[in-house]
Amino acid sequence: MSKPPQKRLYIKTYGCQMNVYDSERMADVLRPLGYELTSEPDDADLVVLNTCHIREKAAEKVYSELGRIKRIKEVRAEAGRETRIAVAGCVAQAEGEEIMRRAPVVDLVIGPQSYHRLPELIARTSRQLGERLAADFEPEDKFDRLPEERAVQGYSAFLTVQEGCDKFCTFCVVPYTRGAEFSRPPEAIEAEARRLAERGVREVTLLGQNVNAYEGGLAALVRRLAAIEGLDRIRYTTSHPRDMDEELIAAHGELEALMPYLHLPVQAGSDRVLKAMNRGHAAEHYLRLVEHIRAARPDIALSGDFIVGFPGESDADFEQTLEIVREARYASAFSFKYSRRPGTPAASMPGQIAEEVKAERLQRLQALLEEQRQAFNAAMSGRTVPVLFEREGRHPGQIAGRSPYLQAVHVDAPQRLIGRIVPVRITAAGPNSLTGAVELEAA
Ligand code: 5AD
Ligand code: SF4
Repeated sequence: MSKPPQKRLYIKTYGCQMNVYDSERMADVLRPLGYELTSEPDDADLVVLNTCHIREKAAEKVYSELGRIKRIKEVRAEAGRETRIAVAGCVAQAEGEEIMRRAPVVDLVIGPQSYHRLPELIARTSRQLGERLAADFEPEDKFDRLPEERAVQGYSAFLTVQEGCDKFCTFCVVPYTRGAEFSRPPEAIEAEARRLAERGVREVTLLGQNVNAYEGGLAALVRRLAAIEGLDRIRYTTSHPRDMDEELIAAHGELEALMPYLHLPVQAGSDRVLKAMNRGHAAEHYLRLVEHIRAARPDIALSGDFIVGFPGESDADFEQTLEIVREARYASAFSFKYSRRPGTPAASMPGQIAEEVKAERLQRLQALLEEQRQAFNAAMSGRTVPVLFEREGRHPGQIAGRSPYLQAVHVDAPQRLIGRIVPVRITAAGPNSLTGAVELEAA
């Protein structure tokens, strides 16, 4: 990733030692976004007034300082340079709205409880102005990647429909590295899907960091693609619980082409942790959502992502993660030890968890998830499911494909079935795949 130019940050600190400390912290959390401190307000792309309420007329002092900064902003604007102005500290806390009203030049008011969200707020303000942020995050972050869009060789293909993220989970670099949520126009997506179908692709997986936040509605897009001749299976990933709308849920009950598989990360089961993660939903909300989705599509295979050892996660919090897993019941899942990404708000939160504790929690969580995965697979025995055969199997005479629930299925059957969707009666569930027999040759 090429780095956009450095930005300058000027912080004026009023009052007590606490504020001096907070100003340092603000400088720290903004550094990964490319902000370097300057002592000259005229140089500053971002001015922060870290205010204090203790003395009388504190607010008046802030307003007069804002007047001065406003003039600097005007001079800089003439030279084509933007100046962002934030008011922090106790005055911000006490009279945030009043400040915005009296001093419209202020872009951002932020109270001491929210300094950890400063990178998010600055990133959001930059986005509104159409700027690119100088995010100084490790470019190759393993959490910052979607499945590779591979050259189409088979019968299943990925198709990017959305990029970026506006959610700002406090552990995550994606909103900084990938930028704002952006949806590709449906016409372009449809045209690409038609080309894929013409080349024999029968299944597409719609990709997006927040795919269900697709503008115009993901359900409408799925309907449009489901109408394409030859495109029999549609999947999508990754979804955010906050964007799981009624239409999309209904589509799972109505559209045959929409596969009964949903990757819907919850990350943790404790409301306290979810809040610190800035997930924007509680555990109960997630469980109700899952219930609702299952009402529309009872057999849906639920998948998720989990983080253990988020800063401040207690044993009791972790138990609640196990609890939400027990209640939601997953067919598959990814789970990670919390990993500190410098520059994200969570990296500077107190209560970082020891590595051994994370490891132990991860092991317990994975044991439970594995149990559920095996149970989900075992329940397939005796059922007949349509399988899209994609390739030769491991053993001679075998071919392999996927069930609607994304399980690998191995069958002794002729190679000419590759590229076709065929009913298969599942006879056994192994640890990593199902085996079965072709029921009859349709499709
Ligand atoms: N530490 C651990 N897991 C993370 N993820 C994202 N950032 C982090 C991090 N800092 C996980 C989340 C997300 C998945 C793609 O990666 O669970 O859903
Ligand atoms: Fe990262 Fe996903 Fe949260 Fe966006 S919604 S910040 S991509 S974890």
